[in-house]
Amino acid sequence: MSKKIVVITGSPRKNGNSFAMTAAFIEAAQAKGHTVTRFDAAMQKVGGCHACETCFRTGKACSFDDDFNNITQAILEADVVVFTTPVYWYSFPAQIKGVIDRLYSFCVAGKDISGKECALITCCEEDDLSVMDGVRIPYERTIALLKWKSVGEVLIPGVLNVGDINQTDGCKQAAALADKL
Ligand SMILES: Cc1cc2nc3c(=O)[nH]c(=O)nc-3n(C[C@H](O)[C@H](O)[C@H](O)COP(=O)(O)O)c2cc1C
Repeated sequence: MSKKIVVITGSPRKNGNSFAMTAAFIEAAQAKGHTVTRFDAAMQKVGGCHACETCFRTGKACSFDDDFNNITQAILEADVVVFTTPVYWYSFPAQIKGVIDRLYSFCVAGKDISGKECALITCCEEDDLSVMDGVRIPYERTIALLKWKSVGEVLIPGVLNVGDINQTDGCKQAAALADKL
């Protein structure tokens, strides 16, 4: 079955490690007939949540209208949401955190976005897998709250510079996620 996939990226590095894994995943997913909508958060204007709780009351998901509103319909309609991001200071980069915080708009407005599949693709410089806990644990808690089902996590340590991902099996693992959808 062809699925609608939203891929939300967090890196500002277009040729970086997480983007290489993202490209491998998207290519594999499209080869299987899935439709992919990609949202590169770091190349968009997305601020944080203002906690005004007026979500969806002004005709848009967020009353503070920025590029987040360009991805909301695709998220609502998606069968699958994939988060792909480097670790910044043991956490999500601010760019993608803005998108994640504003998923709150669906909860405030009572939109039923449960039942989606999802996946996490992430990487970091340090060799210790636990460095990615600051991304992995919020991902797992978030999807538990939203009632989404994770089809897989690709966690690649030890990559700092552009191209380092090619010394790992990260792209292969990311492509293999498409087999699990
Ligand atoms: C602002 C910033 C903060 C970072 N913080 C961490 C960190 O806390 N732990 C770590 O292992 N790597 C950290 N890194 C390294 C990146 O996670 C690593 O270079 C990663 O491969 C970048 O992925 P990208 O090429 O997709 O942007 C940081 C990099 C930057 C630019």
